[in-house]
Amino acid sequence: MNMYPNATTDIYGIVGHPVGHSLSPVMHNSAFRILKINAVYLAFDVTNLEAAINGIKALGIKGVSVTIPHKQAVIEFLDEIDDMAKRIGAVNTIINRDGILFGTNTDWLGGVRALEEVIELKDKKIVIIGAGGSARAICIGLKDRGAIIHIANRTVSKAKELALLCGGSFSGLKELDEISSEFDILINTTPVGMYPKHNEIVIDPKLLSNFNVVMDIVYSPVETLLLKEARKRGCKTITGLKMLLYQAIAQFELWINQLAPIKEMEKALLKAIG
Ligand code: ATR
Repeated sequence: MNMYPNATTDIYGIVGHPVGHSLSPVMHNSAFRILKINAVYLAFDVTNLEAAINGIKALGIKGVSVTIPHKQAVIEFLDEIDDMAKRIGAVNTIINRDGILFGTNTDWLGGVRALEEVIELKDKKIVIIGAGGSARAICIGLKDRGAIIHIANRTVSKAKELALLCGGSFSGLKELDEISSEFDILINTTPVGMYPKHNEIVIDPKLLSNFNVVMDIVYSPVETLLLKEARKRGCKTITGLKMLLYQAIAQFELWINQLAPIKEMEKALLKAIG
């Protein structure tokens, strides 16, 4: 009989504010259950970040996901971060290695893996809409895969800054009218289209027929208006759930050191989101 949790249960969790709607507990706990690992994954709503990070060490919590608004601020409280987290400037994963807190980032991998499932990225021309933290993670991952990147953002100065970092070009959103025909892939990294504003779309839908693949990082609703319009025009579409799933899978494999049960984690995610 399954007697978990017990006195030897390992603790994992997510640190953010708010975290009440996080889907990470559902994914990771389903993986622990399937693989019969004696561990639990909890959500911690944290405003005092330094105290919470000290608590990871004090309580021997094995691994932690970090989400909004702590991904950048957490860096100063960690013992070590890897090169990718440094380049992205954000940590979404903490690994507790015998009391040494190591920070890394799996957001970029989530985005890249979701795309690579449907298209090879080398030399592909990709428009990223948005220039915030998510865009930054995805752009750095895509640059390393040899993609050619254009950043289009409402605030052009931020697009420029990110374009410099990933060796890409940049523009405002209006310019998409003229340049979309030169590109293969479109990725929306802005919150436009997110429930309850699910009737909004970040680009003129008629431009979508220019792209082979359209990905949205918004996952509520799962099929955003952007993806619906793209699908109507024959594009392959990738939902935001894929990036969410694959960044979690990368975390799980870093913590547990064995392959994550992807299908079961995806099933749990879909069930939770209804
Ligand atoms: P995240 O960390 O999730 O990427 P963020 O850092 O707040 O979030 O970035 C949000 C991005 O979405 C920004 O590029 C923002 O544009 P600005 O740089 O002009 O602020 C973009 N964004 C947010 N709301 C938008 C809207 N209604 N229309 C267009 N772009 C929007």
